[in-house]
Amino acid sequence: MSLIPEDIIARVLERIDIAELIGTYTPLKRAGKNFKGLCPFHHEKTPSFTVTPDKQIFHCFGCGVGGNAVSFVMKLERLEFPEAVRFLAEKAGIDVPVGDRDGSRDDTVREKIFAAHAIAMAYFHHNLVAGRGQAFDGAREYVKGRALNLDAIRQFQIGYASDTWDGLITHLREKGFDATIIEKSGLVVPRADNKGYYDRFRGRVMFPIFDYRGRPVAFGARAMKNDDKVKYINSPETPIYTKGRHLYGFNWSKEAAGREHRVIIVEGYLDFIRPFLAGIENVAASQGTALTVDQIRLIRRYTHHVTMLFDMDTAGQSAALRSLDVLLEEEMDVRVAALADGEDPDSFIRIYGADDFRRRVAQAKSLFDFKLERLSAAFDVHTPEGRGMICREMLITLEKIRNEIVKNDYLKQLATRLNVSEDVVLRERQNILRKQPAMPGRIQEEAVKPAISAVFSSDEEWLLRFVMADVEWLKKTRERLAPEELPGVAAQEVLRTAYCLFDQGREAGPAALIEQFTDEALRQKLTAMASSAPESSDAATAIKAFDGGLKTIKDRARKVRRQALRGVIRKAEQLQDHEALRRAQEEFNKLLKG
Ligand code: CTP
Ligand code: MN
Repeated sequence: MSLIPEDIIARVLERIDIAELIGTYTPLKRAGKNFKGLCPFHHEKTPSFTVTPDKQIFHCFGCGVGGNAVSFVMKLERLEFPEAVRFLAEKAGIDVPVGDRDGSRDDTVREKIFAAHAIAMAYFHHNLVAGRGQAFDGAREYVKGRALNLDAIRQFQIGYASDTWDGLITHLREKGFDATIIEKSGLVVPRADNKGYYDRFRGRVMFPIFDYRGRPVAFGARAMKNDDKVKYINSPETPIYTKGRHLYGFNWSKEAAGREHRVIIVEGYLDFIRPFLAGIENVAASQGTALTVDQIRLIRRYTHHVTMLFDMDTAGQSAALRSLDVLLEEEMDVRVAALADGEDPDSFIRIYGADDFRRRVAQAKSLFDFKLERLSAAFDVHTPEGRGMICREMLITLEKIRNEIVKNDYLKQLATRLNVSEDVVLRERQNILRKQPAMPGRIQEEAVKPAISAVFSSDEEWLLRFVMADVEWLKKTRERLAPEELPGVAAQEVLRTAYCLFDQGREAGPAALIEQFTDEALRQKLTAMASSAPESSDAATAIKAFDGGLKTIKDRARKVRRQALRGVIRKAEQLQDHEALRRAQEEFNKLLKG
């Protein structure tokens, strides 16, 4: 538990103006001694949310929430008390001593790793600005070619890691860092013979990644030749850096995002730097993946409005699409902007200029229009089947909207756009929601025997080995198999978790996956499976084996389901539950055909 000294809490509350704080979340109008506005905690059309600056409190006459600045932040940002105080302290410019945030972390180690990163950043930066010799000239040529001048290099603390094995290590040692800290910093890699370390980053242009408070916590290292196999090498996870938790550039752009009530999310380092230099300052980069929940929560502290602007290639567009559902689930307002085909924000601005870029951002479509447009291009809107597909796909996304009123509004719009009655859309929605069609009110399906935790069938073990071996297998499985199609609950849960990590664009390899579970037996079992990856002589054989295995699993699932449905049908007949009977029979017939 973290203890924040009382006097600091008091100072924070003194320094923060509650009306100003809340005003950044919902517009407030003065009404006598108070301020009024629309409540950010529930949906309303006439303001019943009141802020009383005299007393530094807020209250909503509509839904009854109320409290002071700390309770406001706790509720809205979903933070624990100490986190909320820290959050406000930062806004107020008050330092909160680090203390032990939670028992599991050693903060002195963390502080030293922070320090090592600051030193490394300065070291790389100095190399680029003042290093003497051909290699350093080459690095300067490279950044010049990327249209980064000295000012930009200074502003973003860009650097160069020279092509030696121990430049940084030696430097860190000279600065007094001991071996444990150097190792834990992730800036070095242990040698294969386990005797010492070598520099992780060599012969690359270095982009320091900052946390939102502006401390360097990791690096993205760009190869200087395009034929280099790996374009970017990134820091591994360390005590101060968790992938998917930071947004590149947000330390410079968060105020602008708050001011302009919007942040533009791009993919790459240069995609952040280029617009930022052109005066479009409310930008941040997800670093090449779909937005994660952590990143979205960070954004939400400053604004609820996001414009997605991902690369105009398949990878970029699919990452954008995956981000949309997470954004909706986190109750953010999303728009999607598009650039010319094949471009990313960096290249677009260099070709077309910042004004064109601004226009594109201004023309961003609502999530609804964006998705509908993509679907209308993929399916034929003139046939009932095409409209059926579009409706279904739209409904899946709209279902992610948490606010019922907003959702309802979109459902109406969808009906209009598809030229059908609202009733039809609502009935289709019911069809989709009924994931388990044969489980209506009265009938309870014969329970499938619950597997004990960490018990897997051989099929399941076989599949999970693939899933953990490579993200490509995970992707394939994600496309073709629902977790419910596996017989055991343990395997279902593991697969569901892997999908979840994947969908959020997070690391989903064995280590990350295993970390999601606390049950020791399960962890050990998964570790054992991951250690014996499926052997395959060549790719084609592996794919064939995988396809065959997946088909077997699906066939078996179908058989088991049919068996269960037989029971449901019997019972429904006994109870004369016609609706349940009809549904069960329908599903049964479908399974026979499929
Ligand atoms: N990325 C990464 N590792 C990779 C490839 C990409 O971390 N192997 C991240 C980087 O943050 C990168 C972003 O994903 O900036 C977007 O990827 P991409 O579009 O391929 O790179 P660009 O940013 O366009 O790179 P550049 O402009 O330097 O060519
Ligand atoms: Mn790119």
